[in-house]
Amino acid sequence: MDVIERELMIRPGSKIIDIGCGFGDSSVYLANKYEDLSVVSIDKWFDQEAVINGGHGRIIPIKDDASDALKKLEKDHFDYAICMNSYFLMHDASFNLNQIMKHLRPGGKLCIASECFRLEVHSKRIVDLLDVELGWNPWKDCFSKYHSPVWWMREFSSLLEGGYRIETCGELDIGVDLFDAFIDNMEQSVGPCVKKSGAVMPRKNFMQLRNELKNEDNVLTMMMASIIRTT
Ligand SMILES: C[S@@+](CC[C@H](N)C(=O)[O-])C[C@H]1O[C@@H](n2cnc3c(N)ncnc32)[C@H](O)[C@@H]1O
Repeated sequence: MDVIERELMIRPGSKIIDIGCGFGDSSVYLANKYEDLSVVSIDKWFDQEAVINGGHGRIIPIKDDASDALKKLEKDHFDYAICMNSYFLMHDASFNLNQIMKHLRPGGKLCIASECFRLEVHSKRIVDLLDVELGWNPWKDCFSKYHSPVWWMREFSSLLEGGYRIETCGELDIGVDLFDAFIDNMEQSVGPCVKKSGAVMPRKNFMQLRNELKNEDNVLTMMMASIIRTT
């Protein structure tokens, strides 16, 4: 959140959409920290349980697919949109960032912060390592959608319509450290709701993945992109 806050320079009284917010912790954090901030938090899988106990009643939770949820929201209205570790899951032929950008007012900003690989993965060994059954399939449901910051920059540039500008898109300096700390302290880093959902790969699989990537001079890291609506 620190990195997103620094990038967006959020002002009190702002209107935010938190897209793919999971259990809503980021929405609650923002609503508690900034006076008069209002948040619409959207997630398709999870009830935003955190919202029940926090957020000063300034959060509107919507449990729906991002594309359908946005259709019900005002255009030209929000100051910021954030997608934390979620945009890569919803980006496909039918939904992309132009749909999100239309809901921002001119000058409004979208910030995407995400886990990623530093380089594109082409190795069968890595695919095989992740193509396992955990009640969900880490490769098909998650890691096949990870891309490098360079890939995302190209993708965003080719997709974006006029009136929007990419301000930044790159790996975070602290990206590898953040991911390593997440893996090394998974017991503490993963909240109880997420644990209960079973939606996180076990630590031993992450450690195998980290080792296998090292053999390919690749790493798990974090990236951030910020895109501004100019007109
Ligand atoms: C890895 S979690 C991240 C949750 C939270 N933002 C965080 O950083 O802890 C990804 C979230 O994206 C949501 N998601 C994936 N595809 C979606 C879609 N098409 N529409 C809405 N939410 C989506 C999932 O339900 C999941 O909660």
